[in-house]
This record gives sequence, structure tokens and C-alpha cells, in this order.
Amino acid sequence: MSRIRFGHWLLGTAGMGALRSWLGADRTAVDARIADMERLLRIRDEEPLLALELPVPEVDSVTGYASWADTYDVLPNPLIEVEEPAVRQLVTDAPPGRALDAACGTGRHAAFLATRGHRVTGVDTSPAMLARARARVPEAALAVGSLAALPIPTASVDLAVCALALMHLPEIGPAIAELRRVLRPGGRLILSDLHPTTLTLGGGALFQGADGAFGRVSGWVHRHEDYVGAFTATGLEIRACVEPTWGESELPLLGGPLYALAPEAVQAAFVGLPAALVWGLVRS
Ligand SMILES: C[S@@+](CC[C@H](N)C(=O)[O-])C[C@H]1O[C@@H](n2cnc3c(N)ncnc32)[C@H](O)[C@@H]1O
Repeated sequence: MSRIRFGHWLLGTAGMGALRSWLGADRTAVDARIADMERLLRIRDEEPLLALELPVPEVDSVTGYASWADTYDVLPNPLIEVEEPAVRQLVTDAPPGRALDAACGTGRHAAFLATRGHRVTGVDTSPAMLARARARVPEAALAVGSLAALPIPTASVDLAVCALALMHLPEIGPAIAELRRVLRPGGRLILSDLHPTTLTLGGGALFQGADGAFGRVSGWVHRHEDYVGAFTATGLEIRACVEPTWGESELPLLGGPLYALAPEAVQAAFVGLPAALVWGLVRS
């Protein structure tokens, strides 16, 4: 089982801040980040947060979300802070109809869709996450099922949302084709995920369960060309592509307790980097 040293994230982040400013006109910015790295390296074995090493097993999605379900809605998630307004913005002007929340988890978007007057169905592979969704959105029809084979009739849905789940699939093409299958002609699809840039730079589905143990659900990077190729192959028209960025306010959450050890480095590394990727599509 891999042991993770949490301080490595902060050191890498300071380096990222230096990288982002090394070609800038203001040399003081890169000097400040290098000073951060030198300071962090000096104290890395004495400062308990930098020295902290814990096992963080990589687990498959069903195993991971069984452990994460109890804390998913309790522990703050900076990605959700960024992603949720962008998804809601795209959902807001959809007239009430039959809506699917695919990979609905604990029913975050399903609940919002229900308040907008949609008749909501939710599907997820995790029974533990669905149990939470049942309590949160009792009016929704919820079922265990996979994005690879949704238990939903063809052309039966006016609006489908699939949020923060495609990164758990090694290939997105089959899931996108399946989401397109269940949409009626003219129906809308909204996809969101952790942005591939942030995922490439060490982001991921890192969680802490109710027992305090950490884990990481397997994830794969999907680039814009993967999405566009899948949309083109299955007949989905792009109506919106939104890339909300990390702002100053999310970064204390992103860094957790490490943030206070080098806040300027975290800001220099992340402010303005795309945090989420959100697509608005229509079935042609
Ligand atoms: C980060 S959670 C997002 C939950 C919810 N959509 C949200 O945005 O709050 C990812 C969810 O995707 C589900 N999931 C992962 N792979 C899946 C698959 N192949 N089919 C259906 N659900 C899947 C997980 O069980 C989990 O509930």
C-alpha cells in the first residue's frame, strides 16, 4: 500500500508557483517561491504537517465511494464550490421535464433538479452513495446502474446531468454514447468533471472516510480532444464549454491544514488555473 507524504504536495505547489512566474517581468515573484521551497525543505522533518506520512490506497470506484459516502456531504469540497454554480447556470433555463442524474452520488444535482420541477431519476454504481441520495431526494427514482449500461429507456430523457464521474472511467466514449442514447432528440446533456489540467498537476479523488482513513479513487485524464471526439462520434452538439478557475477563496480548502504553511505559494500556483470542465450539449 502506498504511503503518501502530504508535505510533498506543498513543496510541489511552491515549485509550480515558481514555474508559473519564472518568465515574468517581476523577478521577485519567482524568488519568493524559491524562498518558500528552501524554507519548507529546511523544516520538512520538524514540522509535523510536512512530515506526516499516511497510507493512501488507490481503490476502485465502488470500494472508494463505500468509504466516502458518510463524509461526502460533510467535509467541504473545493471542487464542488467551483463546479456547482457552473452546472446550475446551464441547468437553470431547462424547462421542467424528465431529468436523469447519471452517477448521481448522494443526489447533489438530483436535489437541485427536483426543486426546479423536474421528474428526476438517479443512477449510480455505489449503493452507499445511493442510500444517501434516497434520504436527500425521496421523490427521485433511484437505481443501481452503470454509465456503461444505464437502466433507462432509449430517447426517454429531456435533460441528463453527469457530474464529477467521468474521470473514474478509463475511456469516456462508451459512457457518452450511452448518455446520448437515453436523450430524446433535442434533449440536453450537461457534463462536469475535475479539469484535466488540475488532474494532471496532481489532483485526484482523494478522500477521508468517517474512520479518518484516507483513500484515492482511481482516475484517468480525459483531454478536450477525447471529449470532442466522443461528442462528434455520437451526434452531440456542443452549446457551451465552461472552465471555472480556482479562486483565492477555494484555496484554503484545497490545501487543508497545509495551506497556512505557505499560503502565497498555494495562491501563486493555483489562482487562475482551470478547476472544473463543464460541457453543455444537445442531442442532434
Ligand atoms: C465524485 S462522485 C459525484 C457524485 C455526484 N454526481 C456529485 O457531483 O456530487 C462520483 C460518483 O460517480 C459514481 N460512479 C463512478 N463510476 C461510475 C460508473 N461507471 N457508473 C455509474 N456511477 C459511477 C460513484 O459511485 C460516485 O457516486
